Amino acid sequence: MNGTQDPHTQPVVRLDSVTRFYGGPKNRVTALDNVSISLERGTFTAVMGPSGAGKSTFLHCAAGLDRPTSGSVHLDGVDLASLREKALTKFRRERIGFVFQAFNLLPALSVVDNVTLPLRLSGTRPKKALVDEVLEQVGLSGRRRSRPGELSGGQQQRVAIARALVTQPAVIYGDEPTGALDTRTAAEVLTLLRQSVDVARQTIVMVTHDPVAAAYADRVVFLADGRLIGTLEGPTVEQVTEQMQSLGTWSDPFAIQRPEHGVHR
Ligand SMILES: Nc1ncnc2c1ncn2[C@@H]1O[C@H](COP(=O)(O)OP(=O)(O)O)[C@@H](O)[C@H]1O
Ligand SMILES: [Mg+2]
Repeated sequence: MNGTQDPHTQPVVRLDSVTRFYGGPKNRVTALDNVSISLERGTFTAVMGPSGAGKSTFLHCAAGLDRPTSGSVHLDGVDLASLREKALTKFRRERIGFVFQAFNLLPALSVVDNVTLPLRLSGTRPKKALVDEVLEQVGLSGRRRSRPGELSGGQQQRVAIARALVTQPAVIYGDEPTGALDTRTAAEVLTLLRQSVDVARQTIVMVTHDPVAAAYADRVVFLADGRLIGTLEGPTVEQVTEQMQSLGTWSDPFAIQRPEHGVHR
């Protein structure tokens, strides 16, 4: 193959020995410590670990929102370090979808305008058939003209998922996408994410604290102190819970509610 990888078999996301330091020589924090991982197309990966383990840093480095101190990140075959800021922004907009805990919708825009915003920002005219299909997929065909404020939390997160899906990204990253939802609504959103993997071979990486959410994934990777310390394939809720308990610090039930960068003790 002339040394080039077949785009159909190469991983969608590849981190090679990624290390990320913050701070100066006196107060250096190792947020990620020599992390290597490959994520195949059409897989759903959950990232778990105690507060401060490096989950957000992992997601940010894997998405080109932050640059590793050393090591490399390839996404869709592209070495992110090879892209200057402007090209990286364009690449992110076109190839990566994001779903956050706070839905991050624009309140003044209708559902359909929120969903098509990434396309319009990258100068692409939204294809009506694709937009219709995505809205249908998330069950919001009837709410095209609604404003986010008129929707429930679960519906708003489904708008955010539609917005992520509509660019047909190489990967969707979620940072606690179900963190603000009640159990039943979270289950709907997770089912939707799972379907996009199973039906459309979407690739998804999701940070979560919730073993039930993690059990929707094909694989759970565990981070502690910036290091990748284990993985579970085809995880069950029981296995994830057991793994979390064996990591000690997580048995504190308040760890789930505590703001990650808050001052609470
Ligand atoms: N911008 C930053 N500046 C300094 N330290 C940071 C920064 N971002 C994260 N850290 C530190 O890196 C470590 C990992 O943080 P983070 O990736 O946010 O963990 P998690 O998402 O698992 O809670 C923590 O010790 C955190 O305080
Ligand atoms: Mg975090």
